[in-house]
Amino acid sequence: MKKTEWIWFNGKLVPWAEANIHVSTHALHYGTGVFEGIRCYETSQGPAVFRLRAHIERLLNSASAYFKVPFTGEQMEAACLEVIRANHLTSCYLRPIAYLGAGNLGVGRSDNPVEVAILAFPWDTYLGDEAMREGVRICFSRWHRIALSSLPMNLKACGQYLNSYLAVTEAHRRGFNEAIMLNDSGNIAEGSGENLFLVQHGRLVTNGAESAILPGITRDSVLRIAREQGLEIEERPLHVNDLKQAQEAFFTGTAAEVTPIREIDSRLDEASQGEVFRFEVPGPVTQRLQSAYFDAVKGRAERHQDWLTRVQ
Ligand SMILES: Cc1ncc(COP(=O)(O)O)c(C=O)c1O
Repeated sequence: MKKTEWIWFNGKLVPWAEANIHVSTHALHYGTGVFEGIRCYETSQGPAVFRLRAHIERLLNSASAYFKVPFTGEQMEAACLEVIRANHLTSCYLRPIAYLGAGNLGVGRSDNPVEVAILAFPWDTYLGDEAMREGVRICFSRWHRIALSSLPMNLKACGQYLNSYLAVTEAHRRGFNEAIMLNDSGNIAEGSGENLFLVQHGRLVTNGAESAILPGITRDSVLRIAREQGLEIEERPLHVNDLKQAQEAFFTGTAAEVTPIREIDSRLDEASQGEVFRFEVPGPVTQRLQSAYFDAVKGRAERHQDWLTRVQ
């Protein structure tokens, strides 16, 4: 991680080394925090944050299930821009986080103070430059996505990421780039930090919130671009058998952007039954959507200027 000079912490900029918390912080013990991942891209008119409002709205919506954030959406948006400017960054990843702070360690102590921080730091392609061109290799995880009856999975809360952590570290140990988790209905949910799209005979297919996914802002952007391109779209649960009918597959996410998938191994370990599904890379539909997505984030798409918030 490339450290920067300043972190926005509870309303003001503090040096990176001083943005610390106490070990009795509630969120450290129980995962009681919510966060966002946002990217700021270099454009011909200077740095611009992609879909800032949508991310801050999701942050506050995630928080509303757990606690109240002591800043408004406008204040949070302004703080994101302030921390980019203070660090003189031309492109970066933003990580706003709000969490229950120190006070009392009772699980139900929703009266502990809520703290808010925003980190801004350079972060290259999440799954690697090669992955963007050549595609990634994915395996099914033996860890299922947390059920909708257990947590509101459409929100982005810290504790949910124990589930992602188990899935992705298991995939790495097995030599894969990422994992795909099934949900408690046995259908496909998503990656540890990405949504999944398939292309079946030119039609774009992806699942929705009913499948226990985080409905991504990148997913939404890609769906809007696909509609503009006149692509046929189906939003419905994804069955394992859908992989057999797909010629292309890709992941979307703020960190992963639009990453082609080369292979999905449905075996849960080397000894178990299952199939290896292989996809076309670069697939023509994936390539078209990936390139339109990069045009949008980098300010080259006239019709998507309203997705960008200029930093200066
Ligand atoms: C579990 C999970 N699914 C999907 C996504 C993609 O969401 P977005 O496109 O809003 O970054 C993320 C990343 O935030 C994630 O953590």
